[in-house]
Amino acid sequence: MKIGIFDSGIGGLSVLHEAYHMLPGQNYIFYADVEHVPYGTKTPDEILGYTEEITKFLLNKGAEAIVVACNTATSVAIKELRKRYDIPILGMEPAVKPAVEGTDQKRIMVIATPVTIREDKLRDLLHRVDEEHRVDLLPMPRLVEFAEKEEFETEEVRNYLKEQFRDYNMDDYCALVLGCTHFNYFKPLYREFFGPETLMIDGNKGTIRHLADVLGLSLSNSPDNVVYFDNVHKMLCELSTEYYFSGKNISDEKTLEHLKRLHNRLEEVREK
Ligand code: DGL
Repeated sequence: MKIGIFDSGIGGLSVLHEAYHMLPGQNYIFYADVEHVPYGTKTPDEILGYTEEITKFLLNKGAEAIVVACNTATSVAIKELRKRYDIPILGMEPAVKPAVEGTDQKRIMVIATPVTIREDKLRDLLHRVDEEHRVDLLPMPRLVEFAEKEEFETEEVRNYLKEQFRDYNMDDYCALVLGCTHFNYFKPLYREFFGPETLMIDGNKGTIRHLADVLGLSLSNSPDNVVYFDNVHKMLCELSTEYYFSGKNISDEKTLEHLKRLHNRLEEVREK
């Protein structure tokens, strides 16, 4: 099965990474719209335009299903894309439901891009599941920028987080929901602010489970035994992934090394 996965940038790689673990053996086409990242500060019309282009591109490349590995694009465009194209199109949304259901009493923080936080999709979700009004929403647009620069643990990132969390009492929180796929790269840093007992929830595993379900595929029995990191060419060939950055096929050594470093980082921060 040929599955397209796209995002504004490298955030979606965390979804592909999870797919390698949970659904190895499929053919993936990964598309990062690096020319237009970040989406999280663009207008809905702009985002809809980009996602349309990418969807058409992936269909042309033979995608039989598409994962919009971007909460921002999902909140703006998913309805429209499903209306226009006749293949399974899966989106992502902040994992508020499992956070609410898996915890009690204390508060839940959702971090996401400004667009995701503003859009009705998240408001509707909160309306449905956050009956006790335990969820706080916090936009963190600069994390996307840091991730794209491959800055995951610098003092600048730490200071940014410190600044953003300044008005919150961390002891009030039992869960942190990562409502943007770019935010996965920073997991160890959030831990410096939240206690070890705070749940950290991203939507990646749930998305891949849903994908398997929709496509009638079986999940891997040994998702942690896949070896990808020895040789990025091996990774690209054996796992049959095509990588595109805004329509440009990635085959040069420098960018492949970049992708390899990102996969290594994702493996390092992945919850086993
Ligand atoms: N990775 C995207 C998300 O999940 C958006 C990042 C951006 O381009 O602002 O929301």
